[in-house]
Amino acid sequence: MRTLVSRLIHSNPSFSRLNVTASSKIARSFTTDSNQVDEPFKVEEAETVNIPPPPTDKLLVLGGNGFVGSHICREALDRGLSVASLSRSGRSSLHDSWATNVIWYKGNLLSGDSLKEALNGVTAVISCVGGFGSNSYMYKINGTANINAIRAAADQGVKRFVYISAADFGVVNFLLRGYYEGKRAAETELLTRFPYGGVILRPGFIYGTRTVGSLKIPLGAIGSPMEMVLQHAKPLSQIPLVGPLMTPPVNVTSVAKVAVRAATDPVFPPGIIDVYGIQRYSQHKSK
Ligand SMILES: NC(=O)c1ccc[n+]([C@@H]2O[C@H](COP(=O)([O-])OP(=O)(O)OC[C@H]3O[C@@H](n4cnc5c(N)ncnc54)[C@H](OP(=O)(O)O)[C@@H]3O)[C@@H](O)[C@H]2O)c1
Repeated sequence: MRTLVSRLIHSNPSFSRLNVTASSKIARSFTTDSNQVDEPFKVEEAETVNIPPPPTDKLLVLGGNGFVGSHICREALDRGLSVASLSRSGRSSLHDSWATNVIWYKGNLLSGDSLKEALNGVTAVISCVGGFGSNSYMYKINGTANINAIRAAADQGVKRFVYISAADFGVVNFLLRGYYEGKRAAETELLTRFPYGGVILRPGFIYGTRTVGSLKIPLGAIGSPMEMVLQHAKPLSQIPLVGPLMTPPVNVTSVAKVAVRAATDPVFPPGIIDVYGIQRYSQHKSK
């Protein structure tokens, strides 16, 4: 009987994931004289297992040649996904070796059918498209461009869509009206079109190494110590107007990790994830 149980456990992968305590309890329960199970089945602790996403998952990163987008492409490739990117300049100035594994598309989200070919066979989209300028330009690039992408992806049957938005910055919101109004308009569209698979990340300042041409700018030199101090100052962020300026910066690798997970994990909760949520999810083990 013990051999039979052992074979059962080892032939079934879901059994073998349970920890040893649980397996020995099952064995003990089955070896009693009567047919009754003498102890209730109890799993004390299940081990987290690192299962890579199915190789068929194809991710499209909008703005994959930008600062955040390039880290997202890298993270997705490391997780075994097939990765494509679309932006106005295509591959642009990136010379890193991982970049050869990305399919680069050139296209402008503000013009017509740019996305059609790039969306072919795609299961999830992450949009890093955004920018600064005049109020009307900021509305277009953060709002309209992303709204166009969200609509095209929904029409094409894409399952999950992650949008890199931005945290509120109190008084700054007024000065950058077009930026924030655009962000919030794109968020509304995403929640409407992707009620079950739409995730909005709202980081504050994102730090890490930003590549500009052949230059690598280490923004972490400022961002990292600020994050350490401000992550413990959450109550201060509740102060009206100036409180949001206390939002801690977040590492670009954390944003990338959470974005890829949100795009590929079917049980990742839809909705808005603030900077504290990004920090929390980035510390979870990958599933
Ligand atoms: N960096 C931060 O500290 C920070 C903080 C909070 C939120 N965010 C948000 O995070 C996102 C990514 O930021 P980032 O710092 O990585 O910006 P970035 O480096 O400027 O990247 C923006 C990307 O969008 C692409 N893009 C712009 N307009 C486009 C269009 N019309 N069609 C297609 N692609 C277009 C750009 O490529 P092309 O120029 O080649 O088109 C680029 O790849 C943005 O939405 C930003 O608002 C950033």
